[in-house]
Amino acid sequence: MSPQTTAIGIDIGGTGIKGAVIDLATGDLLSERIKLPTPVGGKPDDIVDTTKEIVTTLAASDPKAPVGLCFPAIVKGGMTMSAANISKKWIGLHAEELFEKALGRDIHFVNDADAAGYAESRFGAARGNTGLVVMTTLGTGIGTALIYNGVLVPNAELGHIEIDGVDYESKASYSAKERDGLTWERWARRLQKYYSHLEFLLSPDLFIVGGGVSKSHEEFLPLLTLKTPILPAVHRNNAGIIGAAALAVNADR
Ligand code: BGC
Repeated sequence: MSPQTTAIGIDIGGTGIKGAVIDLATGDLLSERIKLPTPVGGKPDDIVDTTKEIVTTLAASDPKAPVGLCFPAIVKGGMTMSAANISKKWIGLHAEELFEKALGRDIHFVNDADAAGYAESRFGAARGNTGLVVMTTLGTGIGTALIYNGVLVPNAELGHIEIDGVDYESKASYSAKERDGLTWERWARRLQKYYSHLEFLLSPDLFIVGGGVSKSHEEFLPLLTLKTPILPAVHRNNAGIIGAAALAVNADR
């Protein structure tokens, strides 16, 4: 049997559900990227329905492609174990099974930041890097992924570390910048605290900054003073899709 060269990646987020067919050798998008709004309330059945619509469209051109799905929660044994910025109905749900039943096919189901980190380590800013790479996604929340010598250590929830007595995702995420109307400089002060703390805890070799705001990296990354190199993600908002697809055929990584 020839090796699988394509997979469908789906990234379920708080505002949108995105998907595309991915070339597994390069990480390139082989189809148009489909994006539908996340149903209001983010309830499981509604999200499953929207996801099905996207998978059905993408699978029409590539019916045999494996499907990888990433989600903004801790994912353990196919179950969603947390819900920081989504409906609490996901906590303790056999989500992988739910999606598989609705889609009528096997899927691979992972945390969204893990998928993004894996994509950057295989096809992006951390490609070829050894040592500890810490991926952070700055969006509605803060997602994190640890990749050591190219191997993903799943479910690091370092967006929620407590600094100054608060869950620091509530201060340093991009949505916190918008909510509090912060200039780049004021937001960077919070990011400085956050990345300095991560640096102290983990002594990483590289930080990568993803999420939609990473396209404006020139506004805030130069304002940070760290010992560790810090780079913008290459795949920005597509990293989740690409990583979910790649992990669908490399789940042992
Ligand atoms: C969640 C993580 C997720 C991140 C980005 C956080 O609030 O706890 O599981 O990866 O948001 O979506």
